[in-house]
Amino acid sequence: MDVNKIRKDFPVLNRKVNGRPLIYFDNAATSQTPKQVINTIVDYYENYNANIHRGVHALSQEATNAYEGARQKIQYHFNAAHPYEMIFTSGTTHAINIVSSGYTELLNQGDELIVSALEHHSNIVPWQMLCKKTGALLKVIPMNEDGDLIMDAYDELLSDRTKLVFVNHVSNALGTVNPIEEIINKAHAVGAEVLIDGAQASPHIKTDLQALNVDYYVTSAHKICGPTGIGILYGKETSLKRLPPYQGGGEMIAEVTFEKTTYADLPHKFEAGTPNIAGGIAFGAALDYVNSIGMEYIAEYEKELLIYATAALKKIPGLKVYGVSPNKTAVISFNVKGIHPYDIGSILDKLGVAVRTGHHCAQPIMDFYKIPGTVRASFSFYNTFEEIDAMVKAVEKAAQMLQ
Ligand code: ALA
Repeated sequence: MDVNKIRKDFPVLNRKVNGRPLIYFDNAATSQTPKQVINTIVDYYENYNANIHRGVHALSQEATNAYEGARQKIQYHFNAAHPYEMIFTSGTTHAINIVSSGYTELLNQGDELIVSALEHHSNIVPWQMLCKKTGALLKVIPMNEDGDLIMDAYDELLSDRTKLVFVNHVSNALGTVNPIEEIINKAHAVGAEVLIDGAQASPHIKTDLQALNVDYYVTSAHKICGPTGIGILYGKETSLKRLPPYQGGGEMIAEVTFEKTTYADLPHKFEAGTPNIAGGIAFGAALDYVNSIGMEYIAEYEKELLIYATAALKKIPGLKVYGVSPNKTAVISFNVKGIHPYDIGSILDKLGVAVRTGHHCAQPIMDFYKIPGTVRASFSFYNTFEEIDAMVKAVEKAAQMLQ
């Protein structure tokens, strides 16, 4: 694969920031969008913009076919058993809230839920709200200094009181790839369901949902070259049938009278209201795009970027990398001794390098390391080794200026 050819698909990579060529290393926050996906959105609005599932007219049918076709592409990509197990959502956060809200009716006082120390706030706060409503208890799998989960502690937490375990596939702040197969199998052994937050894994790892045997898996299109505002809640058919609907409205009903309403079949039970039609279709186009490059190639190339960048950054005096698990995606969180991450990020921005700074919506991880935040560089398959060289020089320069 020729990275320079791939880069031509991404118009934004041509632009300058503060007079310098853009080096975009904030891919864990959102990925850039190739013209194939942009053109799909333009094509929808220029040629067949219509509401889906509602009209007999040609445009509505074309839009419905494209939207349902995208659902099928997403099903194939993640190897789910049925297209109706893929629920369109506005993103990962929405998907998690659908499950946490439904669980309000499935829990009793004293039931237990297990989360990990490596979570994004979106996989903590909805469950705390659920515990408040139901009297369920939230238990936490701790992490170690390397940024790995302490799996012996997980064994201790599991019991027949455990009803649901929710863990991310990959940590957004550190890049750790969690041992989700083991987490799922052990939870199932005590009769608990499992939700995996795949937002940070989808851009890097091809996930086979049937092989994983997971109950719920959630992710967002914008992390994987798609648009913002669209994502997926995968649920096993049995799990989704048991889960009460999240919001009421049109499209999610079978029959409505003022006495009672019966709900529609899957997936519509969870898809009230007019959805993000162009976004759903573009999600399918984004998966077509990354599959045309190859998920295996992407994983290998990004691993090389990670190894190269980690070695180069570690040579900078006073620089510490947080999260050194042997199982990592292409994310490097770091600080330079005595310098606030925000100050490094601001200087990098002046030099055209986009990174994220702060707690990355994962404050418990920052509390564990007793730091206010980190500088996070996160790579994608369209980044280059030359860009990493430029970033390392920029960090050196920032360190000299600020120390
Ligand atoms: N969750 C995204 C990140 O890690 C926004 O930056």
